[in-house]
Amino acid sequence: MQLVWCDGTDSFNTAAADQVLESLAGKPDLTVALPTGRTPLGLYSLLRARAARDRAVFSRARWFDLDEYLGLGADHPLSYARFLREHLLDGIGARESQIRLLRGDAPEPVMECQSYDDAIAAAGGIDLAILGLGANGHIAFNEPGSSWERTTHVAELAAQTRSVNSEIANDPVPSSGLTMGIGTLRQARRILLLVSGESKREALRALRLGIPDRHWPVTSLSGHPCLTVIADRRLDSTGL
Ligand code: GLP
Repeated sequence: MQLVWCDGTDSFNTAAADQVLESLAGKPDLTVALPTGRTPLGLYSLLRARAARDRAVFSRARWFDLDEYLGLGADHPLSYARFLREHLLDGIGARESQIRLLRGDAPEPVMECQSYDDAIAAAGGIDLAILGLGANGHIAFNEPGSSWERTTHVAELAAQTRSVNSEIANDPVPSSGLTMGIGTLRQARRILLLVSGESKREALRALRLGIPDRHWPVTSLSGHPCLTVIADRRLDSTGL
């Protein structure tokens, strides 16, 4: 695991953008899994700025999302699909043929998960999974106690996640979601984990301990052959 400590928001966002752009330079048709949340907003803003100067950088990349709320269509204000289009995909000129987002309002959610796995497989797997981190250690919507083998599936949100996300959204969010599973995420050829915010201190500590622990889903990533963690230096108080 490569751990990059960053001092301040600018350095954090630049470090994240550098990693993504470096991956794209190495493989222009990169398949990327995208997170939502507050943490990647600065990264997305830098990528949009880059696209404004040089759109070709993104012209062949393929985009997936990590998760979505169950029951929400892509136009719903709380949907992750809408978030990603607004904050990244529209701004970099991503074409529809290069975007596959989970359909939260699919009539058969289980079939939608299967179809999503098929789309990932058809794209050759995920090259770069960009992840945020939940305070309870969740990655995407894989909450504490989740299976580490599953691919895309319907998952129930932990009460804490639901309450944090509802507070941020200023609206109650659904109690379930569709999510890439930890099995999918661990198969990504490269993982970029973004950790910012005081509430993530314990989860980051669990990851740095390097002991797989099902109560901390993020620890499923320890031992991944290509894991980079970009973290706010203020969270470095573990003495490890
Ligand atoms: C949500 C998403 C996660 C994300 C997390 C952290 O629960 N499902 O994928 O990592 O929020 O969000 P934030 O970056 O706002 O702390």
